Amino acid sequence: MRESGEALVQRIGIHKGMQVLDLGCGDGTTALPVARLGANVLGVDIARNLVEAGNKRAAEQGLSNLKFREGDATNLERLADRTFDLVISIFGAMFAPKPAEVAKEMVRVTKPGGRIIMGNWIPNDPTLVAQILKISSAYTPPPPEGFISPMTWGIESTVVERFTGAGVPADKISFVRDEFIFNYPGTPSAFVDQFRKFYGPTMNAFEAAEKNGKAAQLQKELEELFTRQNQSGSGTSIPATFLRVTVTA
Ligand SMILES: C[S@@+](CC[C@H](N)C(=O)[O-])C[C@H]1O[C@@H](n2cnc3c(N)ncnc32)[C@H](O)[C@@H]1O
Repeated sequence: MRESGEALVQRIGIHKGMQVLDLGCGDGTTALPVARLGANVLGVDIARNLVEAGNKRAAEQGLSNLKFREGDATNLERLADRTFDLVISIFGAMFAPKPAEVAKEMVRVTKPGGRIIMGNWIPNDPTLVAQILKISSAYTPPPPEGFISPMTWGIESTVVERFTGAGVPADKISFVRDEFIFNYPGTPSAFVDQFRKFYGPTMNAFEAAEKNGKAAQLQKELEELFTRQNQSGSGTSIPATFLRVTVTA
């Protein structure tokens, strides 16, 4: 996803000296290229190992304008109101619980006139990630009562509700369909193995499937999906559509 992260950042108006928060930043797929464009970047993620990996990558690349820190998108208590020119969250904040709180926190820390840009997977979309999540959920035990699916961040009317609930006028919220490309230097089946080992929703699905003897069936369904959608003749290259949300605070 590194190339698509870099390409996305190139087209969202980043300039030198901007204050940027990357929320649910992982190890910096978007935070690093934003910092390379000269913005001052804080990456916040709930996973300590990814925060450490991000800080290591920033240090290796000599990016003193980029820091990663642990934090929870539902409560950014260490961040003051109206701090950032841009809050970016690419497939990040959508995975936090309490989406209404997440919207309020993103709006709170954005400067008036600043922007929030989210990348969110779209429920029932025919492309890769929505299909991985759909297949995985069929093998995973049902979530606890009251659980709100992260995929609801891919429904435009729901996103409007959440941000208007956080005080943003509806005409300041816009949407485009955008694309990330997943490139992997191996076969689609080997790429499925990476998801099995490292991607939370697929890890959970395999854990449950292994307990009831359905792991091989899950592996087969995913391999068929990846193979069908692969556009590369040598390795694996699969496009995935997402909803890019832009909010002006
Ligand atoms: C699919 S990854 C995307 C990472 C990164 N934005 C990227 O594009 O590579 C989702 C990230 O959201 C983080 N995350 C999940 N829940 C969170 C929360 N409540 N607060 C902050 N980060 C969270 C995860 O730890 C993970 O790094």
